[in-house]
Amino acid sequence: MSTTPLDSATASGVHDVLVVGGGAMGSQIAMVCALAGRTVHLVDTEPASLVRAEGQLRARLASRVEKGRLRTEDRDAAFARLHLGTDLEAGAGRADLVIEAVVEKIDVKTELFARLDRITPERTILTSNSSSFVPSRLAAATRRPDRVCNLHFFNPALVMACVEVVPGEATSPATLETATAFTRELGKEPVLLSREINGFLANRILNAVRDEAVHLYEGGYASLEAIDLACRTALGHPQGPFELQDLTGLDIAWFTKTARYAETGDPADLPSTSLDARVAAGHLGRKTGRGWYQYAADGTKQPA
Ligand code: NAI
Repeated sequence: MSTTPLDSATASGVHDVLVVGGGAMGSQIAMVCALAGRTVHLVDTEPASLVRAEGQLRARLASRVEKGRLRTEDRDAAFARLHLGTDLEAGAGRADLVIEAVVEKIDVKTELFARLDRITPERTILTSNSSSFVPSRLAAATRRPDRVCNLHFFNPALVMACVEVVPGEATSPATLETATAFTRELGKEPVLLSREINGFLANRILNAVRDEAVHLYEGGYASLEAIDLACRTALGHPQGPFELQDLTGLDIAWFTKTARYAETGDPADLPSTSLDARVAAGHLGRKTGRGWYQYAADGTKQPA
C-alpha cells in the first residue's frame, strides 16, 4: 500500500504543481512537493540548471535514505512524479498551482507572470517565492490578481519548516485558504501575513537585528565577538549576526541593502560604512576567507 502523504491530505485540491526556476530554491521546493505526493513539473530556461538540480537532489535524497529517514521506494516514487524540462507550456496546462522561483529581477518575474496568466487554466493559483517583491507587483501583470500570492520558502527548502504566505491587495480569501492548506500538506508551517510588505516577516526581523548589530559595532559600543556572543547566549540565536553574514556572504547583504534603498530612498537602508568597505575590498565572508572575521585554515576565526 502506498504511504505517500497524498493519501491523507489533499484538502487544498492541489495535485499538479508547476515550479519555474530550478536553482537553489526551485529545485528543492519541487522535491518537497514531489515527496508530498504531487505531480511536479520543474522548468528552467537553462538545461545546465536542471542537470545540476537533479544531481543535487539525488545526492540529498541518497543521504536521507542512508540515514534511514526516507524509504527507497518513497524516494523513487518522488523522482517518478518529478518532471524536469525547459518547456514552460508542458507543465502549465494541468497546473493547479504555480510556484515561481526564478532570478530575483522584477522585469523577469512580471514578464513570466504575464505569460503564466496566458498559458495556465483560469483556476490556477500563481505564487512567487520572491524574497522581497510583494505579490501585488506580480499580480498587476495578470488578469487574475485574486489568485496571486507569495509562498516564501526558506533555504534549504527541503529542511526549513517556515513558509510565509503573503496576500496581495487583491488576493481572495479562497486563494489564501488553498495556499495555506497546501503548505500544511507539504509538511511545512504556513506563516500568514495580514497584509503585504516587502521582505515579509522573518528576513525583516533578521535585517533589523543585523542593522542594530552594525550600529553597536560602528558606534564602538562592543566588539564583533561580544555582539555575536550576546545574540547566541541571551537571545538563543544559533549564530551571531556577523557570524551568519560571513556564512551567507557580505555581498548578498550588500545587494539586499542596496535593493531596499532603491525601493525606499531612505538613507538608513544604505549599506553601512563597514559593510561597504569590506565588500569593496573583496572580503565577502567565509567564501573568501575573510569578512567580518578572518578565518584560518583550521576553521578558527578572529575579528578581521
Ligand atoms: P538561483 O539563481 O539559484 O536560480 C534561479 C534559476 O532561475 C536559475 O536556474 C535560472 O536559470 C532560472 N531562470 C531565470 N529566468 C528564468 C525564466 N524566465 N524561466 C525559467 N527559469 C529561469 O536563485 P535562487 O536562490 O534559487 O532564488 C530564486 C528565487 O527564490 C528568488 O526570487 C529569490 O529571491 C528567492 N529566494 C531565495 C532564497 C535563497 O536563500 N537563495 C531564499 C528564499 C527565496
